[in-house]
Amino acid sequence: MKLLQQGAEAKIYLQDNKVLKDRIPKSYRHTTLDNKIRTSRTKREAKILTKAKSIKANVPSLIHTEKHILTIEYIKGDRLSETLNSYPKDKQISIMKKLGRQIARLHKNNIIHSDLTTSNTILQNKALPNTPNSKHLTPNSKVYIIDFGLSYISHKTEDKAVDLHLLKQALQAKHFQNSKQLFTAFLQGYKSKESKQILERLEIVDSRGRYKHSK
Ligand SMILES: Nc1ncnc2c1ncn2[C@@H]1O[C@H](COP(=O)(O)OP(=O)(O)O)[C@@H](O)[C@H]1O
Ligand SMILES: [Mg+2]
Repeated sequence: MKLLQQGAEAKIYLQDNKVLKDRIPKSYRHTTLDNKIRTSRTKREAKILTKAKSIKANVPSLIHTEKHILTIEYIKGDRLSETLNSYPKDKQISIMKKLGRQIARLHKNNIIHSDLTTSNTILQNKALPNTPNSKHLTPNSKVYIIDFGLSYISHKTEDKAVDLHLLKQALQAKHFQNSKQLFTAFLQGYKSKESKQILERLEIVDSRGRYKHSK
């Protein structure tokens, strides 16, 4: 079993092409309560993943849950947080459009991700035939959404707008060279008849953010 990542909430292990997300104990919480919290967050993440899969969003398949350990499909690829900036512009744009379509699908089904950053997106590397280690982007490279640890179900326009606002901020922080263009591309993928109200609300949420920062 290989430790892939150690976060504040969880340790992520890779085992036989599966990812184990093991929520770690917090010593400042009483053990009984701590166990309950870790188990209930694991269950919730599993529930949302199942729902997201059922609406055919690109998310890892759920394999198993046991207490505080979530076992899911390993997505071979790169986190966009690490690689997006190094791609040619047109690739970056097409990736963001794909991400927009994915998030639209989640929102249409009232799934709020709550932690939309490029660290929680993986661009799947499908090796091309004859180039087993190829990192080339094939036209059908899929953008996967991961980390539903803070996700919840809501039909509210406000909640969906906040999701978009967080992504916009994440782009400004990590992909500032062309964050505007990236977000515009994202919106091209995201937009639909139903999204009009959400985008109107986004302007309000954005301006609220600006007000807070200027104080
Ligand atoms: N299904 C997966 N396939 C591949 N890598 C994953 C998968 N799930 C998580 N990871 C890796 O582990 C990291 C942390 O997992 P994540 O679910 O985002 O937990 P955290 O709450 O600690 O951010 C991710 O950024 C990613 O690099
Ligand atoms: Mg994460």
